[in-house]
Amino acid sequence: MGKDSFKSNNPRYVAVRILEEITFNDKIFDDFLFQGDFVKLSPQDRDFCHFLVMGTLKRILLIDFLIKKVSNFSFKKINPFILSLLRISVFQIFFSERIPAYAILNEAVEIAKGKFKGKKYIINYVNGILRKIAEIEDIFSFLDKNCEDENIKFSIRLNIPQFLLERLLKSYDKVEIERFFSKAFNPPIYYGVVNKSKVKRSNLTEVLKRKEIDYIEIEDDLFAFKDVKVIKPLIEKGFLFLQDISIYNFFKNLELKFKKVLDLCAAPGGKSFQINIRFNPHAIFAVDKSFERLMVMKRRIDMLEFKNIYLISGDCGNLRFLREKFDLVFLDVPCTSTGTYRKNPEVFLRVDESKIDEMKKIQFKFLEEASSWVKRGGCLIYSTCSLLRDENDDMVEEFLKKGFSYKLVDKYNSFPMVIDGIGFFASILRKD
Ligand SMILES: C[S@@+](CC[C@H](N)C(=O)[O-])C[C@H]1O[C@@H](n2cnc3c(N)ncnc32)[C@H](O)[C@@H]1O
Repeated sequence: MGKDSFKSNNPRYVAVRILEEITFNDKIFDDFLFQGDFVKLSPQDRDFCHFLVMGTLKRILLIDFLIKKVSNFSFKKINPFILSLLRISVFQIFFSERIPAYAILNEAVEIAKGKFKGKKYIINYVNGILRKIAEIEDIFSFLDKNCEDENIKFSIRLNIPQFLLERLLKSYDKVEIERFFSKAFNPPIYYGVVNKSKVKRSNLTEVLKRKEIDYIEIEDDLFAFKDVKVIKPLIEKGFLFLQDISIYNFFKNLELKFKKVLDLCAAPGGKSFQINIRFNPHAIFAVDKSFERLMVMKRRIDMLEFKNIYLISGDCGNLRFLREKFDLVFLDVPCTSTGTYRKNPEVFLRVDESKIDEMKKIQFKFLEEASSWVKRGGCLIYSTCSLLRDENDDMVEEFLKKGFSYKLVDKYNSFPMVIDGIGFFASILRKD
């Protein structure tokens, strides 16, 4: 360890830098997948670095509670790099069994020394805090003893920001909330839908077995995987596309007939692909504002060899460039993405009251606009990957109250879930 600890090829140092970027500069983990020090790590170290960052984010409220309790220094004034180093180290001390506490502490001090040469007070601070924390035997009993408010304790234990918990408690009880958020501590599961137009199911299972890839057959055309990297070559060949099980189940149970579909906010394409495979419509017109995301969608369409999906770069707040109405309009609005927390724990760092208000305005505007492009008797599906009633049921209720000539046909909500999927909401509306 020692001298080598402060280096860009050290997975802990890289994890600290990535955590700092995510928590202080609004980055997401995916931003580091193809560039910078992360790419230079060995595959094993990359996994370890990913585990450290994601694990720390999923325990950040508890970790911060501890640091605040033992630190004499104002929490808000702790240097971002040092706070990230402390957070990762505390996560390792309590939630990673690989390394003993004294080794974690020594390495943290070496990293601090390398970064802040000569600044002894910083090095002593890191050393002091981690020493005190390493003496705590059980982190959860520590929380119990040092926090009296039951709701705050619940929020810290499950890593749900306080204001978000208050909103969730308006729709769900604590048992339901605990069920989802306890599961969310586990790594996400990846689901792949089989593209039977390119590969026979039996041939695919043969390849999976030959390559010794672990998988579970969930449905005839839906497989679950623990690791997404190992199936990348199969995705590139167009044999599979990634799709969450909550979304898959929604489409599986959807009983609708339509020929022409307008998919709004469509990129990078998961819902279009699912509609295509399940219903085989004549055409899907997919609109999105982000050129970058449309390019990703285009690449995926080429891999899957779908010939009936047409991409349109446009603003869903104003669709006047369209020339006709559709049997089905699917609107998958931008949202707080709180339902994807298990895979993207960063989402909780970004959500606050003002973000929810901002999202609601956009969602209502898109819903209003989308509703003009459905044929009479046709359907409008409004969906989000949010856990919040504000963005889901409330939005649809508000829309119906405003007197648009639509009727609610059905609603689907995968939260609180019994399956290992994301939180996904969809509402089916029929135009009179
Ligand atoms: C929830 S994601 C869509 C996911 C997609 N439906 C899928 O299944 O892969 C929301 C999308 O809304 C798009 N978006 C945001 N503002 C938009 C706007 N004003 N007009 C069109 N698309 C927009 C984003 O680029 C993003 O791709």
